[in-house]
Amino acid sequence: MTDLLHPAVPHGPGGTPLTLPIYQTSTYELPRSPAAAEIAAAVAPAAFYTRYGSPNAREAETILAKLDGAEAALLVGSGMAAVSAALLSNVRAGTRVVAQTSHYTAALTLLRTVLPSLGVHVDLVPQQDVPAAVGPATDVVYVETPSNPTMTLTDLAAVRAAAPNALLIADNTFATPYNTRPLDLGVDLVVQSATKYLNGHSDVTAGVLTGSAQLIARAWETARVLGPVCHPFEAWLLARGLKTFPLRMARHNANGLAVAAFLQGHPAVRAVHYPGLPEHPQHELAGRQMAGFGGMLSFTLGTEAAAQRVVEATRLAHNAVSLGGTETLITHAASLVFTHQTEQERTASGIDPGMLRMSIGLEEPEDIIADLRQALSV
Ligand SMILES: Cc1ncc(COP(=O)(O)O)c(C=O)c1O
Repeated sequence: MTDLLHPAVPHGPGGTPLTLPIYQTSTYELPRSPAAAEIAAAVAPAAFYTRYGSPNAREAETILAKLDGAEAALLVGSGMAAVSAALLSNVRAGTRVVAQTSHYTAALTLLRTVLPSLGVHVDLVPQQDVPAAVGPATDVVYVETPSNPTMTLTDLAAVRAAAPNALLIADNTFATPYNTRPLDLGVDLVVQSATKYLNGHSDVTAGVLTGSAQLIARAWETARVLGPVCHPFEAWLLARGLKTFPLRMARHNANGLAVAAFLQGHPAVRAVHYPGLPEHPQHELAGRQMAGFGGMLSFTLGTEAAAQRVVEATRLAHNAVSLGGTETLITHAASLVFTHQTEQERTASGIDPGMLRMSIGLEEPEDIIADLRQALSV
């Protein structure tokens, strides 16, 4: 029996593996010396206990910190875990937070219900008004640019200039570091759903925070306590997905622009929301803040019924939530993504009942456009 529990595993012939193995273990044999206590006390030890960190998480964090030009990164189990760790590690009763009326739906719930229940003052303002709404009394600013699903931008440099002493946290999920590097524009802490473009294959949920070593250590302590682990296999898949990240993003940018331009010229489409179009009200800001405009867009049709008809008629685009994968997705924003907001809250977030959100994938752009052309003509 003991032999079954302690197999003698021979090392294979040859050198070390080119790809980091998956460390599918919850715990690690520790040195029988005072060094064990040092490992236990360290921030995010890579080989101690998997809730604290893992070699696979460490590998992904190293890549992600480099992508953002950050001192450090923390990998967690979902984008919402990243948003929650970023905010919860930097607020307490009395903290004054300014955020947007337009955010990813679960982030809005965090801002509207969880933080106020802890005594945090949260002021939600229209996205373009954030620079004017912040000032010396603001402790934390939380922004998302472009925001999901309205594709509205927040002027990061303007927010930094208006609140030089506030902690500025930005959700960069839609832009990704390929298109926007928030830390270069004065942001302190970047959060992203790595479920989306960073992994890119619709097969992982993960989240990441990047920033100074001090802010990451603080967020890690919150994650250590709340426990949103990114497990070794997920971290391994993410590190694998990241190998093709720039290639995928270049294609998402090109396809996003092509599909947005097609929709802009279609008579059945009332409005297209894509920062790369000259018609986007913040196109000039997009040109300053973004190197490319990504694969996310939304568009509105006259009515909810017309929007639902398009979803039913698409053949190539999948009717699925999430985004940033290889395949094109189309979703009715109000009913499938922003289900947990009231109608009034959706209106405040700029979500029209006739709005469809698309995540433009890596297919041939003419195939995506042909699918939309036939769906819009039904
Ligand atoms: C902008 C943005 N932030 C955060 C999240 C949350 O990410 P996750 O689903 O990985 O928790 C999402 C999810 O769609 C998102 O779109």
